[in-house]
Amino acid sequence: MITIAAVQFAPKLGNLKGTIAELDFLLQSIDQKVDLILLPELANSGYNFNCKEEALKSAEAISKSVFLDFLKEYAKKMSCAFVTGFCEKTNDKLYNSSVFLDENGVLGHYRKLHLFLHEKKIFEVGNLGLPVFKFKNYKLGMMICFDYMFPEVSRQLALKDADFICHPCNLVTNYAFKIMPALALMNSLYIVTCNRIGIEKDLRFIGKSLVVDYRGNIITSAKKNQVEIIYSQIFPKFSRNKWVTPRNHVFLDRRLDVYPNILEVPDKR
Ligand code: ACM
Repeated sequence: MITIAAVQFAPKLGNLKGTIAELDFLLQSIDQKVDLILLPELANSGYNFNCKEEALKSAEAISKSVFLDFLKEYAKKMSCAFVTGFCEKTNDKLYNSSVFLDENGVLGHYRKLHLFLHEKKIFEVGNLGLPVFKFKNYKLGMMICFDYMFPEVSRQLALKDADFICHPCNLVTNYAFKIMPALALMNSLYIVTCNRIGIEKDLRFIGKSLVVDYRGNIITSAKKNQVEIIYSQIFPKFSRNKWVTPRNHVFLDRRLDVYPNILEVPDKR
């Protein structure tokens, strides 16, 4: 069993100090033991930049980040890990990334594959594939916001044995809320979606963070448009059972002879 907290809040656009102060306040309010804390997409920077130059000023390198150092301190204090959205700079390139870390430092890193709308003029597309990472006795995968729209992403992570997917978001439409239960059920795994709130220029981020179990049930959810920390106990070992009826397996029943065999079932299955 893993206890997860998803911190739904409003990162402050271009104001890292302000964001850290807000998070400091919120993290201090966590009064129960949690194993993993999720934060939204681009939690260190905010989202709605006018241009790449503006985003560059708010981005950090993973190896030299005030934000990640701040989370590392909290990971130590709370004996937990974090998955956070992260505006990442490498030289003059920007990535919309997520970082998995604990008190010892970065354990995993992913760069968003499917850029949404004007993100295309700011960020490079992800180039790290879809890695999975060990966490306790389980494996976690990461996808970022609009990646949800591509069923190949969650399928690929499931085929790589992810027991749960951490999904930092800056959602402005309701599409994801229709899709997340289906993705979880189709792949028989847990998905934790941590969305932000607040308004930046013409965008309103809607909150409604949620945790979905391996049968597509929403087991925890946050309210719309308000700061909230949701807590959920998940049982990732149940994600290992890919049988949805006694005679139907979500991987083995696929008809790869009929539709393109782009996602091989690993031999061990
Ligand atoms: C999104 O991908 N931020 C909607």
